[in-house]
Amino acid sequence: MNDLNALVMAAQSAFEGCHTQADLENAKAQFLGKTGRITELMKGLATLPTEEKKLQGAAINQAKQAVEMSLTQRRQALADEELSSQLKAQALDVGLPGRLRPTGGLHPVSLTLERIEQIFDSMGFEVAQGPEIETDWYNFTALNTPEDHPARSMHDTFYVEGGYLLRTHTSPMQIRHAVSHVKRHQALLDAGQVMPEIRVIAPGRTYRVDSDATHSPMFHQCEGLWIGENISFKDLKVVFTDFCRTFFESSDLVLRFRPSFFPFTEPSAEIDIQFPSGPLAGRWLEVAGSGQVHPQVIRNMGLDPEHYMGFAFGMGPDRLTMLRYGVNDLRLFFDGDIRFLSQFR
Ligand code: PHE
Repeated sequence: MNDLNALVMAAQSAFEGCHTQADLENAKAQFLGKTGRITELMKGLATLPTEEKKLQGAAINQAKQAVEMSLTQRRQALADEELSSQLKAQALDVGLPGRLRPTGGLHPVSLTLERIEQIFDSMGFEVAQGPEIETDWYNFTALNTPEDHPARSMHDTFYVEGGYLLRTHTSPMQIRHAVSHVKRHQALLDAGQVMPEIRVIAPGRTYRVDSDATHSPMFHQCEGLWIGENISFKDLKVVFTDFCRTFFESSDLVLRFRPSFFPFTEPSAEIDIQFPSGPLAGRWLEVAGSGQVHPQVIRNMGLDPEHYMGFAFGMGPDRLTMLRYGVNDLRLFFDGDIRFLSQFR
């Protein structure tokens, strides 16, 4: 009996000493295998007399069951250990701080364009987009700009193959938009009725051969056009003053309409603004060109200048952005330096 107890304990401690399933199978063979110690004991029973055989047989069986039980327990324990170390290896620490995903932001000039669109939308203007690669007709001729006008010089304009050019201003959109507006309302006009007013802004990229701290070969403009039966320079003043004061959130911003010349407006004016306070206070800052649309341009739009008149302006959103945020070099907007740009997020 004592021998059997010792055997069971030997088996238990052998199993305890195993740390992999394979080791455990080897240990099992030592006790329960074909030549294992328990198996050998069973074989020894054969030589015993019947009574003895019964007693010994029952005792060995009990020991065998005890060994099998401790084997099963150890198997389970090893399996548990394996699972828990696997889980540990794949552990997900939900307490860790998340990985920061940097958020982008709009480019400062895009912020300005959005703001311009919002303000003009509130004044009933629609927004139109036009091509950056233009024909000579829309960029110059239709805008009453003669062949020998200096703006056409090779130094000012990027010419593209096939007789096209990169638009030097957004003014071609005056013609493009007006022509399609007139086309849409041609039936009314043919019937001698009044067509709905044209009230549009056209923001976008423009190009000139020019590069320094305040000029870039690519820059932005935003055109404005209001044509109706009786739209005058007075309306230009009201609309543009209202726009500037809203844009800069300064109700006592002062505007100056300085006489100027553009082939497609008559009279023409350069618009300057002056801040009542702040670092730029007291200086006149040019923000737009403007004027009453020239009768020849009205005609090129497909309208009768005796019936229709209005104003146009072209402003520089880059300039407005510089003034709004106090940026002193235009090129910063187009360098793509994230340290500069992220300040506007
Ligand atoms: N297109 C002119 C420029 O680029 C600005 C302008 C637009 C002037 C509309 C008058 C009317 O300088």
